[in-house]
Amino acid sequence: MKKILFSVSILFLLNSCKESKQAETSPFEGYAITKKIEADNGAVVSAHPLASEVGRDILQQGGNAVDAAIAVQYALAVVYPNAGNLGGGGFMVFHTKQGENYSIDFREKAPLKAHKDMYLDSLGNAVPDWSRNGHLAAGVPGTVAGTFLAHRKFGKLPMEQLIRPAIALAERGFAITEREARALNNYADDFAKYNTQPTAFQKEGEWKAGDILVQKDLAETMKRIVENGQAGFYEGETADLIVAEMERGGGIISKEDLKQYEAQERTPVSFKYKDYTIISMGLPSSGGIMQQQMLAMLEPYPISEYGFHSAKAIQLMTEIERRAFADRTEYMGDPDFVDVPVAELVDSAYVRARMADFTPGVPTPSDKVGPGLKAAVEKEETTHFSVIDAEGNAVSLTTTINGVYGSRVVVGGAGFFLNNEMDDFSAKPGAPNKFGLLGTEANSIQPSKRMLSAMTPTVVLKDDKPYLVLGTPGGSTIITSVFQTLVNILEFDLPVEQAVNAPKFHHQWQPDLIYVEKDFPMAVRDSLKAMGYTIEERRPIGRTEVIKITENGIEGVADKRGDDSAAGY
Ligand code: DON
Repeated sequence: MKKILFSVSILFLLNSCKESKQAETSPFEGYAITKKIEADNGAVVSAHPLASEVGRDILQQGGNAVDAAIAVQYALAVVYPNAGNLGGGGFMVFHTKQGENYSIDFREKAPLKAHKDMYLDSLGNAVPDWSRNGHLAAGVPGTVAGTFLAHRKFGKLPMEQLIRPAIALAERGFAITEREARALNNYADDFAKYNTQPTAFQKEGEWKAGDILVQKDLAETMKRIVENGQAGFYEGETADLIVAEMERGGGIISKEDLKQYEAQERTPVSFKYKDYTIISMGLPSSGGIMQQQMLAMLEPYPISEYGFHSAKAIQLMTEIERRAFADRTEYMGDPDFVDVPVAELVDSAYVRARMADFTPGVPTPSDKVGPGLKAAVEKEETTHFSVIDAEGNAVSLTTTINGVYGSRVVVGGAGFFLNNEMDDFSAKPGAPNKFGLLGTEANSIQPSKRMLSAMTPTVVLKDDKPYLVLGTPGGSTIITSVFQTLVNILEFDLPVEQAVNAPKFHHQWQPDLIYVEKDFPMAVRDSLKAMGYTIEERRPIGRTEVIKITENGIEGVADKRGDDSAAGY
């Protein structure tokens, strides 16, 4: 690998983690990936070191956690194009130093011209390619509106100061990591297939670690946002470019869609688990409600006595996950469009009754749980970041364009990828698609409806103060990764690094099997198989970013599974 050092990256290296103690640093040319930091004042953990450092700088400039989160969102749109975004959406959970909890929903919406059967062929069969790739897969982006709503409510520093670092990174370029180079190369054919105009993500020959990625069009788009606020994205030149892109590629997002888009404040999910208060995202994410269900199912069992990664603990959690996913599939969708019986779903008597047929050591077949519909499975490219500031404000934010590089469509002249979030709807409620997956009416497509999500940005309070700020990407595995991380820390008392990096497992009701990561212990797999479970190995699960706050200070831990990196001061 060629050794190249660049002024931009050197600048970031010099700025990095002045006062924080770095436990483990893997040097990357020009900047460092830092897996663990300890800090006294504030911290940011995100999928990319440059984004974490941008957030940390904003905190040091006097910004609060929301300011830092906004800056990180824009920085990730530049340095982590496979999931960071302007062309997607997400959810932000915010706990204020005064003890209030808020959440902002900037999930994408189905375009006005969308309709229920838009991904069915003439025989009525769902065509996954249409909802996953190309222009028709894109929902109306929510990210920019989300940052402005967050800023109007809680921002301290001017928006310009928060977006400027991202503009600099886009304009001057930055050295890409090996992982990003690999991803760009893997999707080169798709970029060629779905784009009619040249994009910043294509080049002659292969990308290598250390190559400089310059994104001039994206820088200009961000400048229009600085100049004109939200309208700099949803109206004027950027809107013209988005609609022109739609026309070139057969998409349906219109000027009206963009103009109408508003992010929404939602009441966060909030509940007690033992001595902790968990604050998480409510509908249109299923994540928070499912954490409440799963932890309520777990509470009567002395799981910490079973032992971390004991077959007994994993079997219990598997059976809990199975039941929660069955409910998700049946009932959950956009609350502005469907009546979701949330109170019933989290009612403690109901939740515990769900475990009445649980037998230790014996699988409950998924066909016997719930109505027999199968779970919708999310695609797997999203990103999460956690922020805490010196005053004790905490932001947990998960953002997504759904698949890796979303729909693979870059808006010509505007420089950002559009999401393929439409695939999070059920293309054909109640009937299997060609991968054997089912969805329901609650999550069927309707104009302006938000597709059901699994994203679970979460804050845990202890004695009413922030204790953990966490979340992860990973589609349907988001829900079980957050659950596992919570159980690992709150029940098994694992150090955060171990809680995050230990091999994970996942059960989502359908298909009826336990997915495990490659390094998941063989002996535990054997015990579970002996009980009658089917085990399937899969690629890594989640990239969980955790901040833990104790009386000794702040600990930030970035998942080992990516270039994820922590920064603090
Ligand atoms: O909103 C959702 O649940 C999905 N679109 C999330 C996709 C995702 O996590 C991809 N991650 N790696």
